Amino acid sequence: MGSLINKRVLLGVTGGIAAYKSADLVRRLRDTGAEVRVIMTRSATEFITPLTLQAVSGHPVHQQLLDTGPGLKHAGAGAEAAGMGHIELARWADAVLVAPASANFLARLAQGRADDLLSAVCLATEAPVAVAPAMNQQMWNNTATQSNLATIKKNAIRIFGPGEGSQACGEVGPGRMLEPVELVTLASELFATGELDGLTVLVTAGPTWEAIDPVRGLTNRSSGKMGYAVAQAAAESGARVILVSGPTSLPDPERVRSLHVESAQEMYDAVHQHAAKADIFIGVAAVADYRPARAAERKIKKTEIKLTLELERNPDILASVAALRPAPFMVGFAAETENLEQNARAKLESKKLDLVAANRVGADIGFAADENSLLLVGREDITELPTQSKTKLARALIHHIAARYHAKNDTKVHRLQRP
Ligand code: CTP
Repeated sequence: MGSLINKRVLLGVTGGIAAYKSADLVRRLRDTGAEVRVIMTRSATEFITPLTLQAVSGHPVHQQLLDTGPGLKHAGAGAEAAGMGHIELARWADAVLVAPASANFLARLAQGRADDLLSAVCLATEAPVAVAPAMNQQMWNNTATQSNLATIKKNAIRIFGPGEGSQACGEVGPGRMLEPVELVTLASELFATGELDGLTVLVTAGPTWEAIDPVRGLTNRSSGKMGYAVAQAAAESGARVILVSGPTSLPDPERVRSLHVESAQEMYDAVHQHAAKADIFIGVAAVADYRPARAAERKIKKTEIKLTLELERNPDILASVAALRPAPFMVGFAAETENLEQNARAKLESKKLDLVAANRVGADIGFAADENSLLLVGREDITELPTQSKTKLARALIHHIAARYHAKNDTKVHRLQRP
């Protein structure tokens, strides 16, 4: 089973007897690493209480499309969550799963209705949407339901199940909601785009640490978040990923081979051990351009009035990989305080890259922030990825890289339309 770590799953629960399984589904989604928020339709609350789903998800359940009740914006995670409108919820979600999805809800979805919270969120979200139908077998087989399903599929909504077997109404046939464990597996596959299947992606991330003496060093404010998110997104897209990381406080990403280094020279050595087999290289690391010419063996004592630190140039890892023949598809990052496009284009040319992802850095944006935006400067085109979480941004970047990589190499493995 794939992982749902760092994924935000919005679970929609509609009215049907299978709603009693939704509590178990929430628990299993969370066990697999997802953060879960729940929307219930009015009829769902006839089968299971919002309190149950609030308890298992750890967040208040959303029920109303228009909720102007007082106190919703109070501080605290719970109150904040309750105050989310349909647009915020639609943006928050990495995936929307409706389980159980009743025949009535499928009809609403097919019509593109937006007069209750769940239907409105399904219309407003850019995240993948999946439904797990659950209904009586006659209702499932009815031509009205089948034609609704055809419309839903055409709108790129995934249909999970249903299973066959004995039903709560005493009949036997198709219409049972899939078991929570099966739904969790299918939900994790929503993120596996297959765009980079079979390719090897080498990513650098984090800052480097250039030792001055055994306890001091030169470093920078890179948190590693963007590089780790890029490595994770590449793994989700089916690539074999090798991440060479400078010192960060982040856990290793799932399904990624992580190599830990300190200095730029160590990063250079680790990268060149793997660069020859890489199809794509993405240099996200904020590599120190200079290092102390000599690192003192013992801690430097404050005996001198003035101390001069002599620095020498570090190797440029990105440029050195771009100089390999054959070179992988080369993606560099440019952190700039001004002239984003101009500086990015200069880097593209001077380092012989295929793409530069440029981001603005300053006191409150860039390195340590959870959100970012990117300007993607290629040889022939420029694309802007607007401000969003680094996780989503990384997925959009990988989607862009995959398209350019396949165009350049004349290969195509696009199986899904969205990042
Ligand atoms: N990079 C690298 N090795 C270095 C320096 C940078 O691989 N020794 C990579 C970074 O990972 C990033 C890109 O090069 O992908 C950044 O380019 P760079 O020219 O170093 O950016 P700045 O340091 O901002 O350069 P300048 O100060 O000249 O603008």
